[in-house]
Formats: sequence, C-alpha cells, structure tokens
Amino acid sequence: MALDSLSEFITAIEAIGELHRVTQPVRARLEIAEIADRCMKSPGGGPALLFEHVLLENGSRSAFPVAINLFGSMNRICLALGTGRLDQIGDRISEMIHIKVPEGLLEKLALLPRLAEMAKFPPRSRGGRAPCQETIFRDDAVDLDMIPFLTTWPGDGGRYITLPLVITEDPARGIRNVGMYRIQVLSRNTLAMHWQRHKVGAAHWREMAARKERMPVVIALGGDPASVYSGSAPLPPTIDEFLFAGFLRRAPVELAKAITCDLEVPAEAEMVLEGYIDPAEDLVLEGPFGDHTGFYSLADYYPRVHVTALTMRRAPVYPATLVGRPPMEDYYLGHATERIFLPLLKLTVPEIVDYHMPAPGIFHNLVFVSIDKQYPGQAWKVMNALWGQGLMSLAKVLVVVDREVNVRDPDEAWWVALNHIDPERDVRFSLGPVDVLDHASRGFTFGSKMGIDGTRKWKEEGFEREWPQRIEMDAATRARIDQLWPQLGIRLKGEE
Ligand SMILES: Cc1cc2nc3c(=O)[nH]c(=O)nc-3n(C[C@H](O)[C@H](O)[C@H](O)COP(=O)(O)O)c2cc1C
Repeated sequence: MALDSLSEFITAIEAIGELHRVTQPVRARLEIAEIADRCMKSPGGGPALLFEHVLLENGSRSAFPVAINLFGSMNRICLALGTGRLDQIGDRISEMIHIKVPEGLLEKLALLPRLAEMAKFPPRSRGGRAPCQETIFRDDAVDLDMIPFLTTWPGDGGRYITLPLVITEDPARGIRNVGMYRIQVLSRNTLAMHWQRHKVGAAHWREMAARKERMPVVIALGGDPASVYSGSAPLPPTIDEFLFAGFLRRAPVELAKAITCDLEVPAEAEMVLEGYIDPAEDLVLEGPFGDHTGFYSLADYYPRVHVTALTMRRAPVYPATLVGRPPMEDYYLGHATERIFLPLLKLTVPEIVDYHMPAPGIFHNLVFVSIDKQYPGQAWKVMNALWGQGLMSLAKVLVVVDREVNVRDPDEAWWVALNHIDPERDVRFSLGPVDVLDHASRGFTFGSKMGIDGTRKWKEEGFEREWPQRIEMDAATRARIDQLWPQLGIRLKGEE
C-alpha cells in the first residue's frame, strides 16, 4: 500500500523502530540542526527525529512539530519509495525501456501494459476541500513567523525552508515542474528562491521574465514521500515529477487547485505556500547558507517570492532537512537517484556497467563508473558522453574503471584506478559548466573537469608492456579454509 502523506510515512517509520520523538524544548535556531547533525553522522544515518516541543525565534512554543531526517537511512528511503531494494525500481524502468518487439500477436498484446506502466498513475485532481487546505491564511493574514523554519548553521543569512517542493509551470508547453530548492525566509510574507541556473524552475522563471509576466509559484511542504523524493530527482523538463511519483508509488498523486493562483498543489501536503514572482522587481540577496558541500555558499541574488496564501492541515507537521559536511540525509535521496537512473544512463551509454557517487564527493564532485571496455579509447568516449548528459554534465571528476571493479566500494575503485594510471597519460582535463555550488572554479558555474582513465590499457592505446593479473586465492584453497575456519577459533570484527 502506497504511503499517502507525511504522517503515514512517520507512522511507518515508527513501526520499523527508526523514529525518535524529542519531547524536550529545543530551538528551531541551530539546536535542531545540531541534534540532527549528530544523528545523520552516526553509522547507517541515525534515527528520523520528530521534535514535538519546538521554540520559535521569539521564544514561544511552535504550534507545529518539526520532522527531520525522515529519508536518512537505507530502510527509510526504500520505505518512502515503496520498495525493498532501490535497484528494483531501476529493474522496473529497465523492463519498460528494454522491450524487444515480439513475434506473435499475443506477445505483442502482453507488452501493452508494460509500455503504459509509466503513464498508468497520472496525478489525479481531487474535488472538495483538500487536507492541505483545512486552514487557510490569505494576503495580510499570512504570517510565516508562526512556522518553525530552521536556522541551520551559525553563518547562515537567516531561516530557511530546506525540504520544499517548488511547483512551477513551463509557460510555453504547459508542463509542470516540481523541484527541491532551498528558500530563504525574508519576512512574514516574502521569500528568496534559490533555484540554480541549471535547474528547471530557473528556466521557467527566465521564460516568464522574457515574457514580462508575473510567475505563479507554489511551495508544498510534505505530501506523500515518493513525491517529496521526486522533487530532488533530475528528470528531464518534459516529465512531470508527480507522474514519476505515481510510477514509483504505483498509485496516483492527488492534486487540488491552489486558492490564489492557477497551479495545482499536492492535496496531502502538510502546508502550502502560494505566491508569485514579479520579474519587474529587483533580485534580492540570498544566503550565505551552510551547504551540502560542507562549506558556506556565498550570498547571491535570486528572485523574491510574494506569498499570497498559506494553507495547511488542521494539525500539520513541518518537514525539514539539514545539509552540511557529508554524510547527511541528502545522501540517501541522491543515492536513490543514482540507482533509479542507472538504466536510463545505460540507454544512451550502453557500455556502462555501474556507477557510484560516494558521499564525500557530494554527487557532482566525484563519479566512479565501471564499463565493459570493448575497444581502445572507450573510457574517454564514456566520459565525453557523461559530460553531455543532463546534470551529469556538472560532474567535476570522473573515474572510469573496468567492468569487474565494484564501484560502489570507493576503496576498491580508488585502489584499482590508482594502480592502473600513468597520470600524465591517463588524466585529461576538459571545460564546461560546473555546479553553482563549486566555489573553486575559475568562474561562476564555469570551469574545468578531470577525467581519469583507470581501465586496463590496451596495445592499441600504445601500451606495450605486459599487464599484470589481480591477486586472488585459488578456489580449492578457499574452499578448504572455509571448512577449517570454524575450528581455528579466530574471531574477526564484523563476523557473527
Ligand atoms: C535537500 C536538497 C536541497 C537542495 N537544494 C537545492 C537548491 O537550493 N537549489 C537547487 O537548484 N537545487 C537544489 N537541490 C537539487 C535539486 O533538487 C535537484 O537538482 C533537482 O533535480 C532539481 O529539479 P529540476 O531538475 O526539476 O530543476 C537540492 C536537493 C536536495 C536533496
């Protein structure tokens, strides 16, 4: 059964013993972050936290509890996406896209449901009053100070919304986008929207600004967990994230009409902020913000959002996350993306066997890729292909190894790659767009990339010496020692 709301997700997390309720009074300013950081840094990602007694900036008690680290373990990200194993979702996508045209009519008919799988659960409009609109504040009644937005690090420019779904529409094609972009709270009814220039929300805004039209924006907090994850997924601009969430959860996402603009909102959200951006207005200073690089992002100029309505459930929970030096909760969201998107990457770069973005590489800094190398120069072909794909184009360092290397184990990937390179020959630099958060590049969002060819070198690649074998014990000896092992009485850490 799909989880339909944040409270159902929290109940399910509690049922698997991964929720910790905090009843002591704790401040939204820095204290929740410090507690969450200690949990997120613990082995396995620590428990999800529900803060039931939260103190606001003015010292009064918040009417709303704060939930944090809900997605921050392997069990919980799987629970959120309704799967036992993240790769199962990749397998479902593989099945859908690797369809050979079958011979017989019956086989052809059997295919139809599989092709329709992605579109089987489109978002559904819901009549009547949506749960997220049980309480409504409009215009002057909007007061964002009542919500326990977090200040996450001492050097932050203010309070931030850290786990939002930002909903906008492509004015030319009418396609919805849902993106997870942090938002700074500027006043009781204004916000600064930190969508980076490579993201779809920012492209919609540029298009609206070119048309000189006011841009409606909706910010949803909570909703079903597959939708919350989908906001962070790098889907092409032509795919509505709520359609994708429907595919993940095998049930439609229910939507309701916003009250003060033409967009739709997830009916099951905890809270919704409706508003607009006026492209005629000057940009506002956003940041600094303690970011997922582990360093502060510098303050910069971003569009201002005017909030025209704040709607919520009768007793909402405010969902948040914390970013900072990895590992943090976002590792699990990004890891789900890594697993789910593998078959899509393979569609255009079929020699890819596997890939992995280890936590300290914060996704865009380091990507290990294993390939089935069939011809000379193929590692370079793969790197060039990846630097030409969506957000993978922002990857700063790519390390390519042969198919047998387990890239999900960074120690193994580095061990093999570093053994296999002659640095002057096997390291190349390229130029291109880089992530907005890269503080070292020569220009803002422009800089160099490094490709490392850690594959075995071939004669045709100019390698004339003999390539050595990897050391491995023979099977007979291993089998004999397996038998003998219990009698030896040697106890190793990690063994039962
Ligand atoms: C916790 C978290 C915070 C994020 N904050 C931002 C942000 O402030 N700005 C941004 O552009 N992307 C941010 N991202 C990354 C985007 O959510 C991600 O790139 C997503 O694919 C964007 O959606 P889009 O492709 O529809 O634009 C964040 C991701 C996570 C998981």
